[in-house]
Amino acid sequence: MAIDYTERIPNNVALAENRRLQRALESWQPNYLRWWDSCGPEGTQAYDVYLRTAISVESDGWAHFDYVKMPDYRWGIFLAKPQEERRIAFGDHLGEPVWQEVPGEYRSLLRRLVVTQGDTEPASVEQQRHLGHTCPSLYDLRNLFQINVEEGRHLWAMVYILHAYFGRDGREEAEMMLERHSGDADKPRILGAFNEQTPHWLSYFMFTFFTDRDGKYQLASLAESSFDPLARTCQFMLTEEAHHMFVGETGVMRIIQRTCEVMNALKTDDPERIRAAGAIDLPTLQRFINFHYSVSLDLFGQERSTNAADYFTTGLKGRYRETRISDDHRLSELTWPVQRPADGSIVCEDVPALLAINERLRDDYIADSQRGLDRWNKVIERQGIESPLYLPHRGFHRQIGAFSDAHASPRGELVTAEEWQRQRDSWLPTEDDHAFVASLMQPVTEPGVMASWIAPPARGINNRPLDFPYVEWADSPRGE
Ligand SMILES: [Fe+2]
Ligand SMILES: [Fe+2]
Repeated sequence: MAIDYTERIPNNVALAENRRLQRALESWQPNYLRWWDSCGPEGTQAYDVYLRTAISVESDGWAHFDYVKMPDYRWGIFLAKPQEERRIAFGDHLGEPVWQEVPGEYRSLLRRLVVTQGDTEPASVEQQRHLGHTCPSLYDLRNLFQINVEEGRHLWAMVYILHAYFGRDGREEAEMMLERHSGDADKPRILGAFNEQTPHWLSYFMFTFFTDRDGKYQLASLAESSFDPLARTCQFMLTEEAHHMFVGETGVMRIIQRTCEVMNALKTDDPERIRAAGAIDLPTLQRFINFHYSVSLDLFGQERSTNAADYFTTGLKGRYRETRISDDHRLSELTWPVQRPADGSIVCEDVPALLAINERLRDDYIADSQRGLDRWNKVIERQGIESPLYLPHRGFHRQIGAFSDAHASPRGELVTAEEWQRQRDSWLPTEDDHAFVASLMQPVTEPGVMASWIAPPARGINNRPLDFPYVEWADSPRGE
């Protein structure tokens, strides 16, 4: 079904044919816009931003690019096309037709899944609220806003599911989405990483690489759900999410590129001299990797989880690319290797695969993160520099799971609490690191110009040149 843009809420779910649902969503809409106004990108209401908007859910040509003021962005409800005769791919209901309604017995489990996913979407918009004031280029500013409006749309996607399938409880949960706020002492967002600050653009790029990637893996497992409307919602969200991964990966890569250029120009690896030249030294980048990676690993939850097992056996949430895995998809007999600290060393033991669903997804995530990191290291290598970056051990700096009481170093050695504290400042960003990075954050708004600490991207957006005015506002420098 095509997307109807004449409606107040663009959609491809025939919203006009369900008046009650339409009215309910239309009454949520002004609350959403008020939230965007007070918690979304600060002071940008009048900016003209060169944004993409979804105009279909076909894999080719789904996006349309034009200048839009963000409060006028057409947030809508788009589900991927239904797969004919789709059948449940895992769990107790394997082989049965997928559900178009929520089975009563799974209602509260499923609602919790949808609410937890939905809560992360507006959280990241809140976390990134102030970044627009210090953009390293108009190109980057535009990408920030693109991600922000899409995270807003992802909230719409989850709110649609709540309103359409969970009745009164769902409507209440939809209101709560706008009442919890990132970092709020009384009503924080549900998950830890979404209450951390994103104080500057280095954190932002690391966040979009590491934390948005958790989102990708969560959405991919929900895209396997037996509850078909949720699966289709998440499938389409994943097409938008790919751009967020791209922004994170290329953002950090461009920072690394710039750092290496400065190192070679000055023939030094002395962090102080690199910093004095306006670039971010590699050891500082490593500390930021260590932080953002470890808080993102926590998002996958406990290594052994009966909740995760329940989500799987009930058919609510599958594994990453469930249908491409060749096993029985019930996991009654299988095991999965899981690491944990024991008596001063880290051991690996086989755990019933059903209990280790979270860990398996974390493993998929780690492998994907490693591929991105390898591409960063190629940049370093090409510049003839021999200090590669790495992903710290999964046990490092964890707040959740088997390692939360252990003190693991980034290289995966268990050390004493005192030793860990003594080394902390060489492993995680310090106040001084944050202050230095913050000092670099001077806004650059001349089209085509980049801040000192980041190299230009390989190409512009939608075949536009790099010096295209991707964002314009009343007194912005428009170039020639
Ligand atoms: Fe999202
Ligand atoms: Fe995202």
